[in-house]
Amino acid sequence: MVRVVLGVSGGIAAYKACEVVRLLERAGADVRVVLTANATRFVSPLTFQALSHRPVLLDPFDPHSEEGIEHLGLARELDVFAVAPATANVVAKLARGVADDLLTTLYLAVTCPVVIAPAMNPRMWLHPATQANAALLRGRGVRFVGPDEGPMAERESGWGRLAEPAVIAEAVLEAARRGRELEGRTFLVTAGPTREPLDPVRFLSNRSSGKMGYALAEAARRRGARVVLVSGPVALAPPYGVERLEVETAAEMRDAVLARAPEADAVLMAAAVADFAPAPRPHKIKKNSGPATLTLEPTPDILSELARRPRRGLLVGFAAETERLVENARAKLESKGVDFIVANDVSQPGLGMEAEENAVVILDRWGGVHEVPRAPKGAVAEAILDRVAERLR
Ligand code: PMT
Repeated sequence: MVRVVLGVSGGIAAYKACEVVRLLERAGADVRVVLTANATRFVSPLTFQALSHRPVLLDPFDPHSEEGIEHLGLARELDVFAVAPATANVVAKLARGVADDLLTTLYLAVTCPVVIAPAMNPRMWLHPATQANAALLRGRGVRFVGPDEGPMAERESGWGRLAEPAVIAEAVLEAARRGRELEGRTFLVTAGPTREPLDPVRFLSNRSSGKMGYALAEAARRRGARVVLVSGPVALAPPYGVERLEVETAAEMRDAVLARAPEADAVLMAAAVADFAPAPRPHKIKKNSGPATLTLEPTPDILSELARRPRRGLLVGFAAETERLVENARAKLESKGVDFIVANDVSQPGLGMEAEENAVVILDRWGGVHEVPRAPKGAVAEAILDRVAERLR
């Protein structure tokens, strides 16, 4: 049985959430409804209680509440956390991590897929603040449904209407299916740059932030996979529920990847591994020792080495290109002998390395070519996993 929490916030579209509950119930889901204080002004808790056949959850700090903050226990057992309608205020609070009522507190505590169906005045939806908040949430892998375009209650028309209840219910059920899709699978993901030491205080590295690889690790974990993340030095916290192995050099990354790859159903190499490394000097290079010349040696090509070994899992390489994206990526797909190449154009401002967003083309050895347009890295990660999961099925 699919276990869903449906958060309802205070907008005129709150009445449509009743239909969402009914449709989910009819599909066999166990639905717990959480109402914000403002939502109760639009629809009575009793209505939701009757439709969900379960007590409605309100304020966690209400001294008269029977369950009190025990509600948070719910977060551990959920398949999907959904909010419909989500007002501009709730979207902002979720994006910024404000937890001042049960709905927003639960959001911080859940680790399952999250679906948000916004509904608000079109000018509020299109306001840069709301758009930035929605982009932040999408970047974390939150799935948005709508808003739709059409006439609004306040006699205006535009983008801001709540999506149709049937579409929201289907998105919730689809998120639940996805959340279990990789159960029993192990994913190995690499992320970030490597650092190749020159001497005890200096190193050669690159601009990779690790965001793409971390987004992949989180998305795979959300779909139920056991995830091992081999990470170069980055400024990112370890994602919840993911085993992180920290490495520094290409040689260390190679050792970690080769040791853990045999257990993986898929290896995704999003790390920007140094192609060359200097022979490190044991002592700090002195300024007065004259202009220094660096001699660089090639590092081990981890991906090619993996591809040559017998393996049971899929192998996904990344290609950071600055010209002829698809052509170069196709050449890499063949020369490296991998199953997928995810090609990103790292010459575009605001995309790829270091950026919050990416745009990629996914090529596979069965002839597939899938373009993923510019989107937050969380959403790009989901699109990549869709392809990989499809092959694993
Ligand atoms: O970390 P972010 O800031 O979020 O940026 C993400 C990213 C742009 C770094 C990422 O999306 C990406 O493209 N990663 C691969 C970058 C890269 O090293 O591309 P490449 O074309 O040089 O290498 C091709 C593939 O071989 C990659 O999968 C790489 O991990 C692998 N490789 C490279 C060198 C090496 N010595 N061993 C390898 O296994």
